[in-house]
Amino acid sequence: MIRSLKLLVLALLLAVCVVHAVIEPSLYSPDDNVKILNNDSLEIELYNSSNCNFVQFYNYFCGDCRRYAATFKKLSWKLYDWRRVLSVLAVDCAQEINVKICRDYHIRQTPTLIVFPPHFQRTENDLGFEIDKREPDEIISTLAEYISKIKFTQQEHPNFEPINKTENVFTADEDLTEDCKSKPYTVLVYQPLNSTIGRDLILELLTWPMVTVRIVDNRALLGSLGLIPESDELAIMDCVGNVSPLEPENSTLTAYVASATRFLQSANYQPVAPLVTTQAPTVAKYFIDEEQQAIISTVLSQQPKVYRADLEQAIDSLLHTELPKVPVFKGDNMLALQQLINVLRLFNPLNASGKLLLDRIYTFVNSIGNNGELSGVAFQLQVQNLEKKLPKVFKSKRYVGCIGSGPFLRGFTCSIWTLFHFLSVESSKTAVLPPGAVLRTLHGFVQHFFGCKDCVQHFLGMAERRKLFSVNTYDAEILWLWEAHNEVNQRLAGDSTEDPKFPKQQYPGPDICGKCYDTTWSRNEVLSFFKAIYDRKNLSTYGLPTPIGYD
Ligand SMILES: Cc1cc2nc3c(=O)[nH]c(=O)nc-3n(C[C@H](O)[C@H](O)[C@H](O)COP(=O)(O)OP(=O)(O)OC[C@H]3O[C@@H](n4cnc5c(N)ncnc54)[C@H](O)[C@@H]3O)c2cc1C
Ligand SMILES: *[C@@H]1O[C@H](CO)[C@@H](O)[C@H](O)[C@H]1NC(C)=O
Ligand SMILES: *[C@@H]1O[C@H](CO)[C@@H](O)[C@H](O)[C@H]1NC(C)=O
Ligand SMILES: *[C@@H]1O[C@H](CO)[C@@H](O)[C@H](O)[C@H]1NC(C)=O
Ligand SMILES: *[C@@H]1O[C@H](CO)[C@@H](O)[C@H](O)[C@H]1NC(C)=O
Ligand SMILES: *[C@@H]1O[C@H](CO)[C@@H](O)[C@H](O)[C@H]1NC(C)=O
Ligand SMILES: *[C@@H]1O[C@H](CO)[C@@H](O)[C@H](O)[C@H]1NC(C)=O
Ligand SMILES: *[C@@H]1O[C@H](CO)[C@@H](O)[C@H](O)[C@H]1NC(C)=O
Repeated sequence: MIRSLKLLVLALLLAVCVVHAVIEPSLYSPDDNVKILNNDSLEIELYNSSNCNFVQFYNYFCGDCRRYAATFKKLSWKLYDWRRVLSVLAVDCAQEINVKICRDYHIRQTPTLIVFPPHFQRTENDLGFEIDKREPDEIISTLAEYISKIKFTQQEHPNFEPINKTENVFTADEDLTEDCKSKPYTVLVYQPLNSTIGRDLILELLTWPMVTVRIVDNRALLGSLGLIPESDELAIMDCVGNVSPLEPENSTLTAYVASATRFLQSANYQPVAPLVTTQAPTVAKYFIDEEQQAIISTVLSQQPKVYRADLEQAIDSLLHTELPKVPVFKGDNMLALQQLINVLRLFNPLNASGKLLLDRIYTFVNSIGNNGELSGVAFQLQVQNLEKKLPKVFKSKRYVGCIGSGPFLRGFTCSIWTLFHFLSVESSKTAVLPPGAVLRTLHGFVQHFFGCKDCVQHFLGMAERRKLFSVNTYDAEILWLWEAHNEVNQRLAGDSTEDPKFPKQQYPGPDICGKCYDTTWSRNEVLSFFKAIYDRKNLSTYGLPTPIGYD
């Protein structure tokens, strides 16, 4: 009685939450000088902006992206000073809503950093300029180089072109008083050949909107401005054309900035305020609701189980987010797609309509033929159309065994491991595919579709070292995956991406399988354990919707 009452309460709690898709928190927030955009807002921003836009495309589930967040924040805090010319944006490609935009920009592995010019227009050949760097200093100098090549049109934007002889910079030709109010000073900086000191000074002084900085690249011109051509390399000109030299301590950027700002401060000007930042990560909108709390405590209190909800979530994400993001399937990645759908179809953990769906998707992708090609858009549309003709297959949008106790923890990657362990056990029990087929399918998935850069590199290295393609019995296949997963667990144990409630341990621990380990692993015991726990009949349906709510 008490038990069923508890279940009823849980069912009610869970039922309330059905309508709300779980909102994934964002790795960044506007407090970090990062604007969070999505499929509907990114291009409006890029197309309309008179600034450059620097975008990070990431996947929330990618450990590398999470580990990179702290570094990226420091970078974007610094870039706040450049906001007159550059905005910082982020898009989470792991969200189903962002499939189209991430496909359009050919985002494969994340994090991917791309900078766009003002009023960008996407074309097949122009998807922005990718910055293949991770270190903030390297990114800053790449961005500086990029920005300095931009011909900005707006008045408030800097001009990176050196002053030339014919240009009339000495007298303001229009409304003098207006000019003196908004731009009382111009800093003139001599930039020798192959130096970037003028460019860098322009960027450093962006926080002083009352000055214009102009580059002078020949000494003769310094002379015609009334300066000493051999020695005056930094000067200030007021709005009526009076030029006087500044006296920096030396010819470094630091000294130039110090000298120019000293002058401005003495004239009673102030820079615009810097960004107020906190070292503590600001995670936008995340809290664990009662539903998640209930699942976490149930999962932690039960004997370890394999939950069908996680297998469904893995397949759901593959079909609706990860695969449709691929611009085009042809050749090797077409083969990888066909293998993946085939394995899912044969060892399908879904119910009857889920089976029909995968059979039909399989027929579709297999009809393309070896030399044909299929766009991600066409794949996405076909999946949508086939789904419309069947009772709803994916009702739940919730991880159960893969639930995380905090933001960005577990979820998709956990469900992929769970799915492939399950598939390897099913393959051994059914023997409809040759041994090793599931591992080769996983290899194809990782190589072509897994949007997590370091995972891909590690896994492909491990596949070679552990000779994935030589596995030739079903039992060896199950054990290969077990050992590979343990190798990953070992590397990641104690990592900042670890969920403290679900620490990474060598699996299965003594509490789960007493016989599996006794000074060394007993491979036979591990095998029996896997065959029991990952057996289809032993899958738990806890957390899945049922006709009366949730079980
Ligand atoms: C192919 C692949 C490669 C990856 N490479 C990286 C990487 O290089 N860097 C990175 O940061 N992240 C990587 N990840 C993600 C990482 O492995 C975890 O999925 C993620 O950190 C979430 O961990 P988790 O606590 O949910 O447990 P997971 O490791 O995802 O495991 C899921 C569940 O499987 C069970 N399990 C644990 N170990 C085993 C085992 N040996 N055999 C069978 N079942 C087990 C447990 O019940 C566990 O809760 C990779 C993921 C995949 C699928
Ligand atoms: C921004 O761009 C979109 C799409 O190109 C356009 O419809 C919209 O009018 C623009 N908005 C502004 C403020 O320029
Ligand atoms: C994504 O944006 C495009 C327009 O750029 C729109 O046609 C499409 O419906 C959007 N998709 C989603 C899932 O919002
Ligand atoms: C010099 O500047 C003027 C005005 O900006 C421009 O029209 C001219 O083309 C420039 N000449 C050279 C040689 O760059
Ligand atoms: C400037 O750079 C070019 C090529 O990058 C080089 O050929 C030239 O010698 C350099 N000049 C000076 C003065 O360093
Ligand atoms: C140049 O001057 C700055 C101060 O303006 C000083 O911090 C720096 O150490 C000097 N560098 C050299 C190489 O003298
Ligand atoms: C499959 O399961 C879903 C929910 O889990 C349910 O809505 C649907 O009716 C089921 N379909 C069949 C054919 O059993
Ligand atoms: C299901 O799990 C139990 C306990 O782990 C085990 O005894 C049983 O054999 C498993 N069932 C199958 C079909 O493997």
